Amino acid sequence: MNTIPRDFDPIPSTRNRVRVGVASLKQAADEADALAVPVGADAEPPEELGTDLAGLASAGFTGRRGETLVLPRADGPVRVAVGIGGRGEIDATVVRDLAAEFARAVPWHRKLAIEVAAGDVSVADFAQAVTEGVLLARWRYFVGRDADQPTLDSLLIVASDEDTPAAEAGVERGQIVAAAYNLGRDLANCPATTLSAVRMAEVALEVGTASGLEVEVFDKDQLIAMGCGGLLGVNRGSVEPPRMIRLRYQPTDPTGRIALIGKGIMYDSGGISLKPSDESHAQMKNDMTGAATVLASMTALRDLGCTTAVTGYLMCTDNMPSGSAMKLGDVLTMRNGTTVEVLNTDAEGRLVMADALALATEEPVDAIVDIATLTGACLRTFGVEIAGVMGNNSAVVEQLRRAGDTVDEPVWELPLHRSYRSQLDSTIADMTNMGGINAGSITAALFLEEFVAGLPWAHVDIAGTAQLPAPRTWRNKGATGFGTKLLIEFALQFARPEES
Ligand code: BES
Ligand code: MN
Ligand code: ZN
Repeated sequence: MNTIPRDFDPIPSTRNRVRVGVASLKQAADEADALAVPVGADAEPPEELGTDLAGLASAGFTGRRGETLVLPRADGPVRVAVGIGGRGEIDATVVRDLAAEFARAVPWHRKLAIEVAAGDVSVADFAQAVTEGVLLARWRYFVGRDADQPTLDSLLIVASDEDTPAAEAGVERGQIVAAAYNLGRDLANCPATTLSAVRMAEVALEVGTASGLEVEVFDKDQLIAMGCGGLLGVNRGSVEPPRMIRLRYQPTDPTGRIALIGKGIMYDSGGISLKPSDESHAQMKNDMTGAATVLASMTALRDLGCTTAVTGYLMCTDNMPSGSAMKLGDVLTMRNGTTVEVLNTDAEGRLVMADALALATEEPVDAIVDIATLTGACLRTFGVEIAGVMGNNSAVVEQLRRAGDTVDEPVWELPLHRSYRSQLDSTIADMTNMGGINAGSITAALFLEEFVAGLPWAHVDIAGTAQLPAPRTWRNKGATGFGTKLLIEFALQFARPEES
């Protein structure tokens, strides 16, 4: 459709795989060019650091958690003292953060090794968290000169012979999770003109098929036949055609069935309700982060041995102003027959999600989860590190909250307060797509609830967490792909909510 001077690879990080392995301290010292050594506060460091407590103190290193100090050596890998602190539990979240701090402390070293810190996590969980921390911290999205240059060649985790099998199992899981996460980040950061809805479907076919998913792509004619008036309405202003992508992960003897629905607005200009040309407008290539995380998380399910059957829906189009765009006051008929009066074309996410929610209820399913960069109000409420969650089923909401805790992608519940539903009343249709100026995240969720037919459902609003102004530990600056680990963990741990 559009001619672009250079056709970027939308998913560069999937093309180079870092070698991650388990080794003895001697092997690691021989092969690596930087070795991380954990150091407790006020504790004598291990011998291989090559200095003692007084030496560290003279360099101003205190062993505070997350502190790093690079110690040059005449021979062998540079040693990096990594502070683990004095007190407090060392869980997987701490290990992941410390590994990421190490990886960031030696940005030019490409052969890293890390020693195990005595903590409260199992060897396997430690190895997984280290692998995730390093691979996530070293990811970057860059399409300039030297774009093909890998930022990391290898990572070795030091373990005894006895611990090696468990460490290797953890490394394997960490690699699967990090590869999925980095795929989601690639997609979220890829410029919108390069990653159109059509291209997104091509990527889904490529990576979905390679990871054992069934991938079905629905084009505009099929969407018309299916009555997906929300996705089609939003697409009307665009020269790029829409795509709905349905992914299926079908394990033998599934222990439960879930549907995951991702908002895939490839670019959100606001449409006729055009956004101002401010900083947040410039971030709107990330308005497909929900779709990116559904696709990315599903690529990991088979290899992680997930026993939950998962159907994913990616609702992809951009939201553009033009002579053919939706007009304010237009009425759309959604997949389930509900009519919606469009009072603001910038409230487009809920329109595309509505069709998928309705489709998801048409098949047997134990729970539906949708994930969307849905409301600026969620960013205002929670900032950039916590996502919002709302739903009609406390068990599903609680499972999401717990999954977020486990993987360090926190989500916090807002009340789905039903009396606010009247803000969506329309005089000419079943409802409007616009609530009042207050409680925007809640009225958006109340809109979505209309399409789930009373089935157990929760909605995750990642409008705040989809973009970070500065990196922190394993988190990257720019489009974050927040939610991939959350959805993986949710699917792995999913338990059917009690029938009520
Ligand atoms: N994609 C935006 C939400 C968003 C805003 C994400 C800022 C990240 C940062 C969404 O489509 C949108 O425009 N929402 C409107 C809804 C309103 C018009 C009811 C909003 O939040 O302002
Ligand atoms: Mn919008
Ligand atoms: Zn949007």
